[in-house]
Amino acid sequence: MSDVILEARDVVKHFGTGGRFLSRAPVVQAVDGVSLQIRRGETFAIVGESGCGKSTLARLLMRLLTPTSGSVQFDGREVSGARGEALKTLRGQMQFIFQDPFSSLNPRMTVGKLVGEPLEIHAPELSAQARRDRVADLLRQVGLRAEHAGRYPHEFSGGQRQRIGIARALASGPKLIIGDEPVSALDVSVQAQVINLLGDLSRDLGLTLVIIAHDLGVIRHMSDRVAVMYLGRIVEMGRAEDVFAEPRHPYTRALLASIPAMAAPEDHKATVRGEMPSPSAPPPGCRFHTRCPFAEARCASETPVLSTGDDAHAVACHFWRDIAAQAAPPTPPRRSAEAEARFELYRAATEGGTVTHKTATDPQKQTTKTTERI
Ligand SMILES: Nc1ncnc2c1ncn2[C@@H]1O[C@H](COP(=O)(O)OP(=O)(O)O)[C@@H](O)[C@H]1O
Ligand code: SF4
Ligand SMILES: [Mg+2]
Repeated sequence: MSDVILEARDVVKHFGTGGRFLSRAPVVQAVDGVSLQIRRGETFAIVGESGCGKSTLARLLMRLLTPTSGSVQFDGREVSGARGEALKTLRGQMQFIFQDPFSSLNPRMTVGKLVGEPLEIHAPELSAQARRDRVADLLRQVGLRAEHAGRYPHEFSGGQRQRIGIARALASGPKLIIGDEPVSALDVSVQAQVINLLGDLSRDLGLTLVIIAHDLGVIRHMSDRVAVMYLGRIVEMGRAEDVFAEPRHPYTRALLASIPAMAAPEDHKATVRGEMPSPSAPPPGCRFHTRCPFAEARCASETPVLSTGDDAHAVACHFWRDIAAQAAPPTPPRRSAEAEARFELYRAATEGGTVTHKTATDPQKQTTKTTERI
């Protein structure tokens, strides 16, 4: 059995190329030549600013979207050719966890029905009683109780709803789960608990996880490898510890420096300037050159290839070696109060038991006044 469970080869997704004859709508280059290999049992993170193509890539990997060109293989089989029974099997083996646990669950279905529905499709041989037992097991597995099966999604907090979404994803016995920002809609103090649950499940069930996030703190805590995306392309990819300790691409450096606890205020070259250009008119050459503090003339004309140096740490930048030689990586974390509180939660969650937490420290996010069991 190959070590690689999911592979993308030069995958492209351009929106707006089909349909209307002589349409003047610009083509959106959402994903533009992504290649990656995800290994069995690992947690692989995809990070980048909003609009850089993360969700499109996730949908291409899941075959929820068809690529404009390129190929995606799951367990050695091309996913775009899957039809009928093969597609049903694929759907059971690769599951999706959505960003928003508020809108992804049908409010008119009980939790038992929501979690049991995939069983009806993927394990039709189960009797009604066996299905109820399995639903109860799944609920316990995600830290809920069997009696929750009779309730409706609105009766639960955000974190609990995401647990329901995870139980539903687990029901078909998947090998791989893709979570598209699975905790970013949640109260900051609940995020750690859900992240920990995913980590436990991946370890206990041997699941492969692909986690999409813009919060690098989340990625650092849970991922084995990381891919950093910018305007539809991967600009850096490697083991999480290498990418965090020695980011090679100026964009990754900027992302790391934008974590408040990690910023080195005096390092102006570590911050990212301006807005991300539109994916319908990406800059030529290196797509990051309009914002890169290290850009030179060559960057505007010559596209850097994502290539590994002498290790598995890949980067797409003409000058990464010079940059690494002249600029120190962003300073190691000086934890902010919020980061400190979050690390405390991670620790408590890992040790198990009930975590009583305060409500959100982030005033922009909706607070959930709930104490949840881990
Ligand atoms: N169905 C679509 N039609 C046209 N443009 C789309 C569609 N889906 C996504 N896009 C565009 O593709 C780009 C990447 O979007 P997305 O993959 O959602 O990024 P991310 O998840 O990183 O925020 C964005 O500019 C977005 O507006
Ligand atoms: S190739 Fe040039 S513009 Fe692109 S990241 Fe490297 S230095 Fe910056
Ligand atoms: Mg997205």
